[in-house]
Amino acid sequence: MTGTEKQSVLIESMGGRVSACPPIWLMRQAGRYLPEYRAVRVRAGSFLDLCYDPELAAEVTIQPIDRFDLDAAIIFSDILVVPQALGIGLRFEEGEGPRLDPVRDERSVKALGFHAFETTLAPVYEALGHVRRRLPRTKALIGFAGAPWTLVAYAVEGQATREFQAARLWALRDPLGFGRFIDLIGDGVARHLIAQLHAGADVVQIFDSWAGVLSPELFVRWVIEPTRRIVETVRAAVPSARIIGFPRGAGAMYPTYAAETGVNAVGLDTTVMPEWAATQIPPGVALQGNLDPLALVAGGEAMARQVQRIRRAFRGRAHIFNLGHGIVPETPPKNVAALVAMVRGTE
Ligand code: CP3
Repeated sequence: MTGTEKQSVLIESMGGRVSACPPIWLMRQAGRYLPEYRAVRVRAGSFLDLCYDPELAAEVTIQPIDRFDLDAAIIFSDILVVPQALGIGLRFEEGEGPRLDPVRDERSVKALGFHAFETTLAPVYEALGHVRRRLPRTKALIGFAGAPWTLVAYAVEGQATREFQAARLWALRDPLGFGRFIDLIGDGVARHLIAQLHAGADVVQIFDSWAGVLSPELFVRWVIEPTRRIVETVRAAVPSARIIGFPRGAGAMYPTYAAETGVNAVGLDTTVMPEWAATQIPPGVALQGNLDPLALVAGGEAMARQVQRIRRAFRGRAHIFNLGHGIVPETPPKNVAALVAMVRGTE
């Protein structure tokens, strides 16, 4: 890096800097809506083969930056690689989403461990190195992991379910045993985030995609507490670590999550009223979000109205423009280009 080269605007926002024009990246920005992604995906064979191929994973990570000039790249991987690296069987059935070998008792938890952890995840770290070398310093590189609650919920159910009842029942009936599973996964998550920061990530995001199914009491114990411990562990290893938390569906628990976990930025889902978040989330925490992914599919006036509302509500706050959830495969790429132009005021 040369002394005159600017730092990434995303990193500045995470440090609390308010800018006239927010940095922008999009969850699931590398994916099936892009023809160039679909081409590489065919070459790789399966989705998991693509995740574990450092060259190809780096290539698809950079595709949306090349096409749209977004302010950050997010490493192409999946949240379920951490449970897989701890020994939980994982496969992706075409068109059906993930399937895991269910973990429903302490005996199955005891069979898991760290013996193959680093070697399984080494390709992710290698991919981060490739991307960092190819990406200018003005673009941030984001690493990520799932949060313990979301990963444990997938592992208990074996797949996404509507309410994650088996996982919630285990948490209620046997909090100590459930807590040991959460702690094991939490150790894996912290290790994975630290290794990604060492491999070249500038920022990490913790995805708690199913935080919204928990009652307030369970939310504090199984979302806030484990996340706070991970943030603490990561900062002990990498004091300057910049961390985004995304507790999707947190609703009224968002302000408590933002105040108590220690994250630098909080990802807001599509249900959050931006004006409410701007007044309720503690001022030291940057706000990320929260355009409806379907507004990005619709484009035009529907998208423009939401973009203006979000921009207005977050004026005076450190803001990272993003969606409230991942890009859907039906998204026209030209709408993404239009969104970037709209946010930058260059349309
Ligand atoms: O954001 C990015 O561009 C980086 C890559 C990324 C993927 N998954 C790639 C992916 C990230 C950050 C994730 C996170 C992830 N994975 C989450 C958290 C975010 C969220 O959506 O709530 C979750 C819950 C998963 C688990 C997962 N992986 C599911 C439920 C699915 C199937 C859904 C689907 O769209 O088919 C996946 C597969 C997956 N992960 C794909 C991609 C691009 C689609 C696979 C393909 O190419 O066929």
